[in-house]
Amino acid sequence: MNWYDLVRGLHILAVIAWMAGLLYLPRLFVYHTRAEPGSEMDTTFQEMELRLYRIIMNPAMVVAWLFGISLIGFRTGFFQDWTVFTQPWLVVKLAGVVFLTWWHHFLGTARKRFAAGQNQRSEKFWRMANELPFLAAIVMVLAVTTEFAFG
Ligand code: HEM
Repeated sequence: MNWYDLVRGLHILAVIAWMAGLLYLPRLFVYHTRAEPGSEMDTTFQEMELRLYRIIMNPAMVVAWLFGISLIGFRTGFFQDWTVFTQPWLVVKLAGVVFLTWWHHFLGTARKRFAAGQNQRSEKFWRMANELPFLAAIVMVLAVTTEFAFG
């Protein structure tokens, strides 16, 4: 058995769970904006958002990071040879990782605002914002699968 391939598979599985949460949470926010603060619907959405964030998204992000860092380990001869970091595909991929990690925390802050009845953002904002993580995922997945380079 090849450890590198196993870790790649586990990385992809963790990423699937993380992406599912990143795409679903703003979708819940879209409907949550329509709920009257303090209503039963409001409380139900708050509970769904809290569970999704704590039980799925946080652990999935941590596991995706741990396997991702392990893959960097394989690619650098166990953190000896860092030349892979001069390759544009990896730089683009890691820029996407930074963006998605920031976006995850941005959604976490928004979740707390909803829970406090202080959401200021519109249904339209959450609908549009919902596209961003998927656009990032397209760029990131194609960066790692093509390993593109210039010249
Ligand atoms: C959380 C931090 C992450 C880190 C540190 C990380 C890092 C890496 C590294 C170093 C590789 C190995 C590339 C190779 O050796 O072929 C890899 C593979 C991969 N990553 Fe990530 N990644 C992260 C998150 C993500 C996310 C969010 C996505 C999708 C949106 C993703 C999608 C993939 C895919 C599909 C592969 C497999 C590519 C292949 O084997 O051909 N990763 N990742």
